[in-house]
Amino acid sequence: MLLDQYLLGPHAKLHEAISALEQGPVKLCVIVDEQGKVIRTVTNGDVRRALLQGLDLDSPVTDFPGQHPILLPDDASDADALATLDEHSIDVVVLVDENGRPTRFIDRLSLSKMLYLSPPHMGNGEAGYVQLAFEENYVAPAGSNLTAFESALCAFSGRKHALAVSSGTAGLHLALRVLDITAGDRVYVSDLTFVASVQPILYEQATPVLIDAEPVTWNMSPQALGRALARDAAAGTLPKAIIVVHLYGQSADMDAIMALANQYEVPVVEDAAESLGATYGNLASGAHGLLSVYSFNGNKIITTSGGGALMSDRADLMARAQKLSTQGRDDAEHYQHTEIAYNYRMSNVLAGIGRGQLEVLNERVAARRAIYDRYVEGLGDIPGLGFQAECTNSQGNRWLTVISLDPDQVPLHVYQLMRALRNNGVETRPAWKPMQMQPLLAGAEFEPHSLDESVGTSVFLRTLCLPSGSAMSVKEQDGVIASIRSVLSEGFAS
Ligand SMILES: Cc1ncc(COP(=O)(O)O)c(C=O)c1O
Repeated sequence: MLLDQYLLGPHAKLHEAISALEQGPVKLCVIVDEQGKVIRTVTNGDVRRALLQGLDLDSPVTDFPGQHPILLPDDASDADALATLDEHSIDVVVLVDENGRPTRFIDRLSLSKMLYLSPPHMGNGEAGYVQLAFEENYVAPAGSNLTAFESALCAFSGRKHALAVSSGTAGLHLALRVLDITAGDRVYVSDLTFVASVQPILYEQATPVLIDAEPVTWNMSPQALGRALARDAAAGTLPKAIIVVHLYGQSADMDAIMALANQYEVPVVEDAAESLGATYGNLASGAHGLLSVYSFNGNKIITTSGGGALMSDRADLMARAQKLSTQGRDDAEHYQHTEIAYNYRMSNVLAGIGRGQLEVLNERVAARRAIYDRYVEGLGDIPGLGFQAECTNSQGNRWLTVISLDPDQVPLHVYQLMRALRNNGVETRPAWKPMQMQPLLAGAEFEPHSLDESVGTSVFLRTLCLPSGSAMSVKEQDGVIASIRSVLSEGFAS
């Protein structure tokens, strides 16, 4: 961090130093000579001492009691910086280039920050679109941002219709409602997923049937799906929908899944909450099923702080979803309602954030894929450490990089690694706990990948999601890689 506001020239006065110190979070200003080289730094303590010695507000800062500035070369690591801060009992250190010119600060606060799994990453356009909503006084639900956001979503995904809603979960709920799923209907859903894929089935008191993952991409197993469909077709209990999740941004095997769904004439809802920006075949992830859902939750590849979208090529289904998302008002001049509906529409203000975020989506995908590549490069040689694979014919968005540790080769459980990394300031998370293991779904039907193997359970027990935020620097990522290597090597040594 280095902001011009903290730099002062050689003739700066005491009162200018006081103003600079008051401006921002960094309680230090840097005095540079005519060539921009650091002469000294000034802290609140220096100001206090100068006043006590009788200097007045117009005294030049170069008259302050002497001090050798504490400087570090610009390529110093965070660890070097921390050691320097500790050694001199200071909170900020200035880094300089080879000519002694300041390049940035490192302060204690930024060093102590946790590196999070997937924090929001704003671009340059979002604030302008939000401002537009204020200028147009369309802080109310609908407005030009909402229309433009939905058009941009259609253009990006290749789908004909988009309905921006308050969350991905709301989008999934609407998908089930427009498919007329009601109490007692069977709905197949990926077992290895976040609970939001399943909750809307429960809202409607329908019956979830949990379909296991396959061992390569950890997405819905076509093998398990085919077995379940054949059995249910024979029994006359086919599901009314199949909800397929694209886990951590990597697509499920949609050719195989769509072929089975078409064979048994069961509509597919893609839970593409995590996979916006991924592709499968020539199409965007979320462009294969009858309906699909994206999420713009704060941790997703792009965010509207909270939000989602329902997508489809079917105008009739989307018109129904639109009505259900706005309290189901009938076509009458007065307020008339004949069915249960919701207040699910996204606000025009949040759609403004979405417009800006969509403009940088391709960059975000490229950044997350590069992060994945660097993890593979930095960790791929560790025996027993693996990564979630991409389905052939697809390109994931690598929303999260997920590693697996083979218990036969790695002497640490992923939770031990997770806790050690937390102590090093690195947030990681276990993979989603499969739905079949959730108390909420106790007793739910489960179709395993093979008759003697539950893939979802073993994935859950040995995987960890790594920090994957698109704003993470190479240096930060190198720190994560070094931390993992060091924790694991201690485990191997013990
Ligand atoms: C697989 C999956 N489905 C659904 C959702 C629900 O999205 P939202 O949080 O926007 O409701 C999420 C994320 O939160 C998710 O990861």
